[in-house]
Amino acid sequence: MKKFTTDFIVEKIENFTCGYCILTLTHPDKLPDINPGQFVEVKVPDTANSFLRRPISIHDVDYKTNQLKLLVKVVGNGTEKICSVALGDKINLLYPLGNGFPMDKTEIRPLLIGGGCGIAPLLYLGKVLSDRKIDVNFLFGVKDKSSVILRDEYCKLGGLHITSEDGSEGVKGFVTQHPVIDRIGTDYNVLFVCGPMPMMKSVASIARQKNVSCFVSLENTMACGIGACLCCVTDTKMGHKCVCKEGPVFDINDLKW
Ligand code: FES
Repeated sequence: MKKFTTDFIVEKIENFTCGYCILTLTHPDKLPDINPGQFVEVKVPDTANSFLRRPISIHDVDYKTNQLKLLVKVVGNGTEKICSVALGDKINLLYPLGNGFPMDKTEIRPLLIGGGCGIAPLLYLGKVLSDRKIDVNFLFGVKDKSSVILRDEYCKLGGLHITSEDGSEGVKGFVTQHPVIDRIGTDYNVLFVCGPMPMMKSVASIARQKNVSCFVSLENTMACGIGACLCCVTDTKMGHKCVCKEGPVFDINDLKW
């Protein structure tokens, strides 16, 4: 798939108290095809170093308006600068990167499981699945009530089930403690997962017990985003693979988990 390095214009900035921001970015030209689960490398603004980029999941795509949405969690200097852009600023992206979630199987009954910032790619995935007339259900694990963002956006697409660590929203505990997990294997035959590593490993172990397909989006440290620097390598049953190029989405059966 061809990759582009190009400037987008910052069209909208939404800041959330939980430390997330959503940037809506417009491109003057038609967007290329983008698979749910793919990501961009954002050039950190106000730096002369053009190699300094941050990998960010593609949260949403609108081909009619040529707009991308990025959900960014502020975790350091780079992401802070990215979220400090102003309306009308130019921001440079290298995209679309990685493979994305596989949706070639027929008769899928998916459960989309996200934790923390891992909910980001699941909105666009939910939209694409819904456009294909596939029932969509989300299961999100959050820290507390204030971390539940874009509730209406997800609810428009399907069922939204939530667990929170402090019990202030939904079921208290982790995603693996939500009753909807009991329906894996009957109501759901494939799991699409993105979030912290312990959560993904726990979900993967449930998928194995229930003998359902499970695809996880890994968030290894990345730099180049194109398979050149090897800093994102993960060990698989087929040898070392670059998460940025041959992932970030992997079938759990291919991982040494
Ligand atoms: Fe450089 Fe993956 S980030 S090889």
